[in-house]
Amino acid sequence: MSNEALSNLSHESRRFDPPAELAASANLTAAAYAEAESDQLGFWAKQADRLTWETRWDEVLDWSNPPFAKWFVGGKLNAAYNCVDRHVEAGAGDKVAFHWVGEPEDDSRDITYAELKDEVCKAANAITELGIEKGDRVAIYLPMIPEAVIAMLACARIGAPHTVVFGGFSAEALSSRVLDCGAKLIITADGGYRRGAASALKPAVDEAVAKVEAEQPGLVENVLVVRRTGQDVAWNGDIDIWWHDLVEESSTIHEPEFFDAEHPLYVMYTSGTTGKPKGILHTTGGYLVGAAYTHWGIFDLKAETDVYWCTADIGWVTGHSYMVYGPLANQATSVMYEGVPDAPHKGRWWEIVEKYKVSIFYTAPTAIRTFMKWGDDIPAKFDLSSLRLLGSVGEPINPEAYIWYRETIGSGKTPVVDTWWQTETGSILISPLPGVTSAKPGSAMKAIPGIVADVVNDEGESVPDGSGGYLVIREPWPSMLRTLWGDDERFKETYWSRFPGMYFAGDGAKKDSDGDVWVLGRVDDVMNVSGHRLSTTEIESALVSHPKVAEAAVVGATDEMTGQAVCAYVILRDTAGDGGPDIVKELRDHVAKEIGAIAKPRQIMIVAELPKTRSGKIMRRLLRDVAEKREVGDVTTLADDSVMRLIAEGAATSTED
Ligand code: WT7
Repeated sequence: MSNEALSNLSHESRRFDPPAELAASANLTAAAYAEAESDQLGFWAKQADRLTWETRWDEVLDWSNPPFAKWFVGGKLNAAYNCVDRHVEAGAGDKVAFHWVGEPEDDSRDITYAELKDEVCKAANAITELGIEKGDRVAIYLPMIPEAVIAMLACARIGAPHTVVFGGFSAEALSSRVLDCGAKLIITADGGYRRGAASALKPAVDEAVAKVEAEQPGLVENVLVVRRTGQDVAWNGDIDIWWHDLVEESSTIHEPEFFDAEHPLYVMYTSGTTGKPKGILHTTGGYLVGAAYTHWGIFDLKAETDVYWCTADIGWVTGHSYMVYGPLANQATSVMYEGVPDAPHKGRWWEIVEKYKVSIFYTAPTAIRTFMKWGDDIPAKFDLSSLRLLGSVGEPINPEAYIWYRETIGSGKTPVVDTWWQTETGSILISPLPGVTSAKPGSAMKAIPGIVADVVNDEGESVPDGSGGYLVIREPWPSMLRTLWGDDERFKETYWSRFPGMYFAGDGAKKDSDGDVWVLGRVDDVMNVSGHRLSTTEIESALVSHPKVAEAAVVGATDEMTGQAVCAYVILRDTAGDGGPDIVKELRDHVAKEIGAIAKPRQIMIVAELPKTRSGKIMRRLLRDVAEKREVGDVTTLADDSVMRLIAEGAATSTED
């Protein structure tokens, strides 16, 4: 056995018991599993009581028309009221909701719940004045500034579903999302701070608006622009409005309306197996119940004393559930940070932990591996003793990174919760409970109380302990996606057709000999790069939209830092000749322009042919072998097996950053 295999084995057999003091005081105890098992719906009703309902529900779950679920039927509530007003009414107005930290040093701001309420009310009045009504969609394209949270809550407050688009996405990506969900308003900023410099956002919005205008004239009625950096921006007086002109002048008084539990709260686009991103729809009641319950239970939040920090960007679902809705519903005090981890120095995150005495910290394995690479001496310069609980999300965490995180960041004492979930699930479904579970590095362990997860074989039968298969969820849960925006058929087909009666997550998993779950990663054409989901097909479409490209195939290859990395094989058109000296850069930039910088291939190989089966399907498995520099596997089903030899030779001369 190799050394590496041996060290993995020893990691796999390690276990970390909950600290005794946490075991005695944890919010969620072992009894919750039994309680949920004996009365699933009663358990969820109890979790729903965490929120303030204007009208109580008549029925916890209507599952008469699967897979279309209705939770808390007949209940009425307002998500923004639950996240803000009720805490102020309860006397917590002076409590800090966010310690906001800008990337430029000395640029920080504490926002109390009372201030947040005023800001949200002003923004709700302002967008109402722009003609936004209940049911209208609003796109939000902002950096990590307080206005991002304020804008989301203002939309929620008036019942206008928001769709937040990650600021790193391109104009093209923004316009396709605006068109798909029919957004009338875009809320953005002139720019933001990244790596010590002001970057621009507004030009991408202008470009997106022009694209939308060409397809659906008049759809976007206004663009509301926050001034963050003060840089010059082009201005379209017909639709552009400064946030400070409109919002700052608006009243802080706004009566919330209460909406049906199933009223749409937001749409979040995520990559699927086809070229077109899917608009995941979450609704008000069930989603907020899921976010609040899991944030309280899995992070063991003690709202009075904890300082919580989730490093995710607001443009991803993690930012929605665990930076905005969950923590605010629970009256948490959170940190929100605008910039990158290494500006102006590689200890920035730990400096923030020290300064605000962060006690609960939630980040992604890719960040943890980056810090490991930067070295232990960086976190060692800071006092991290306030930390009592660490979380991981977005991709499988390798045992080495888990142990480093626990030892170096958590001083060997803090539990680490490895939380599995998806944009679709709305909140965490599989995770250890910090006060209950003896956690194993690399395993998300067990479905949380209320959730029924399983690993099944091709026939949909539960596999025995010690075996692998597909991860499924057997029972509906409150924060589940309700459908794909405008596409019920694709919703049924994507998640509910593979194993009838079960939600198919798209992940492979194994149960170990104790029955604990190890999530292995996607089993479809979806890649996971630094915890971000990217579609192979979407990147292929971006590549073939370049005039020099005839054909493209994309695979996710294992990468030590980012989990997976995008590797592309490209056949050029005859008219393009050899593509010219800058062809690789040209194509990488083109992908960034079409989708966003996160989708840029790490590696592009210009090839003469692609390996295809006799039926014409690209054999991605073989391409992955080459990209990972493995011996190429079985090629007997290839139409022409000389292709692989050509590619393997090409791989040796490919360009990497
Ligand atoms: C996919 C969902 C959930 C918010 C961030 C990503 C992978 C997520 C884990 C984990 C192993 C994980 C899965 C999943 N994933 N968390 N703890 N262990 N894999 O959200 O973009 O919707 O991606 O991320 O493959 O299906 P997303």
